[in-house]
Formats: sequence, C-alpha cells, structure tokens
Amino acid sequence: MKIGIFGAGDVGGTLGKRWRQKGHEIMFGVRNLQSRNIQKLIQMDENFKVGDIREASTFGDVIVFAIPWTAVEETILSAGNLSGKILIDPTNPLTPDLKRLALDDISVAEKIAKLANTTAVVKAFNAIGARTLNNPIFDSDRADLFICGDDIHAKRVVEELATDIGFDVVDVGPLVNARMLEQLALLWIELAFRRQMGPNIGFKILRRKYEF
Ligand SMILES: NC(=O)c1ccc[n+]([C@@H]2O[C@H](COP(=O)([O-])OP(=O)(O)OC[C@H]3O[C@@H](n4cnc5c(N)ncnc54)[C@H](OP(=O)(O)O)[C@@H]3O)[C@@H](O)[C@H]2O)c1
Repeated sequence: MKIGIFGAGDVGGTLGKRWRQKGHEIMFGVRNLQSRNIQKLIQMDENFKVGDIREASTFGDVIVFAIPWTAVEETILSAGNLSGKILIDPTNPLTPDLKRLALDDISVAEKIAKLANTTAVVKAFNAIGARTLNNPIFDSDRADLFICGDDIHAKRVVEELATDIGFDVVDVGPLVNARMLEQLALLWIELAFRRQMGPNIGFKILRRKYEF
C-alpha cells in the first residue's frame, strides 16, 4: 500500500519504519527535507521517499497526520485535494501541561473530516505511545488498538495496517467517538508518566461471550 505520512517525528517515523518492514511504500511529507529525523530515517532505509506535504498527499492512498494537532488546518490547506484518500488521525489536542484536552466539543478527527470534506477519516494510534507503536507485543499478548470512523471501508484498511504491525484492533464505532479516544490518551499519559508505569504500556480489553 502507498502511505503518505505528514511528519517524521516519533509517531510518523515509527509507523513509517514498521510499515516499511511489512513491504508498504512510504513517503514522508515534511517542512524541512534535511531535518535530523529525515536523515536518520533515510540512513535506516534508503527506500523511504521524502517530499513536501503536497507531494506526500498526492503519493499516498492512505495519509497519516503525524503532526501536532495545531498544525492540522494549515497542513490540510497545503495538502490539496484529499478526496478518495483514507486519512488516519493519531493526534491528541493536549494542553501544554499534557493534563487536559484543548478542544471541548469536537475532536481533532472530526475537524479533519470537516476541513478535508471527507468521511474517510479514522482515529487511530493516538491512545498509545510511540514505543508501543514500535512493538505492540507483550509476551503472549498483543496491545489493543482502538479505532473509530464513519467509513467502514476506511476502518477495514486501517485495521489491516494495524494488524500488520502487531496490534489487536478494537472498533469503537463512529468518528464522533474520537472524543473518547482523545480522552483515553490522557489516561495513557497519566499512567505512563505521572503514575510512573513508564511508556512501555498498552491497553487490553478482556472479553467473555455475551448474548445481547
Ligand atoms: N509521541 C507519542 O508517543 C504520541 C503517541 C500518540 C499520539 N501522538 C500524537 O501524534 C502527533 C505527532 O507526535 P510526535 O510525538 O510524532 O511529534 P514529534 O516527534 O514532535 O514530530 C512532529 C512532526 O510534525 C512536524 N511538524 C511540527 N509542526 C508542524 C507544522 N506546523 N506543519 C507541518 N509539520 C509540522 C515536525 O516537523 P519538524 O521536524 O519540521 O518540526 C515533526 O516531523 C501529535 O499530535 C501527538 O499528540 C504522539
């Protein structure tokens, strides 16, 4: 699959590296083609492609917004026409102290859907740290990855991409539920850093059969 990744930091670089290992084609869309992040990635794998936001947007059938949530609006303007693309949103609209969300009545994922004028937005990879993105396997368990979105096909594609790199996927419903997933990221941050569990943690749902 051809994947355009906006941003080449912890999340973008890690997802790019993991998907590349699974044979996907990756282009990073960045502001600075010479940044240290980009140099490190190219050293790791010369098959990574690098371009500006517009070039990565044109390249990818799937696009990942691995950038600060505050950069989403200008990035969509730079990206051009995103129709027909599957957009993955891992961002969290955190306040600078990382204790609360800066948005009250909407999620970043819903904002992306409005700004890009598409329903093919999937919230994913936000309530987990970059280390666990790199390795979601814990002994015999795979970390759960919570996703949501309104477009069933887009969710199935993201499910395949997440399963490919070792996650169990839990579909939590329509895109409006991205508000819950952005809150869940606050819990992950609280546990990892303030409760000092460390960043090698992930969520897992336990289930027994239940007849509704
Ligand atoms: N780190 C995590 O564990 C984690 C986990 C889940 C979700 N997230 C979310 O994922 C997103 C990316 O996080 P990250 O940790 O990967 O951040 P990061 O390491 O700081 O990387 C951010 C990337 O975005 C680019 N960027 C910054 N400002 C930009 C702008 N105005 N326009 C275009 N590109 C811009 C940076 O490019 P430059 O090099 O040019 O600055 C860099 O490539 C954030 O929204 C974060 O909340 C992070």
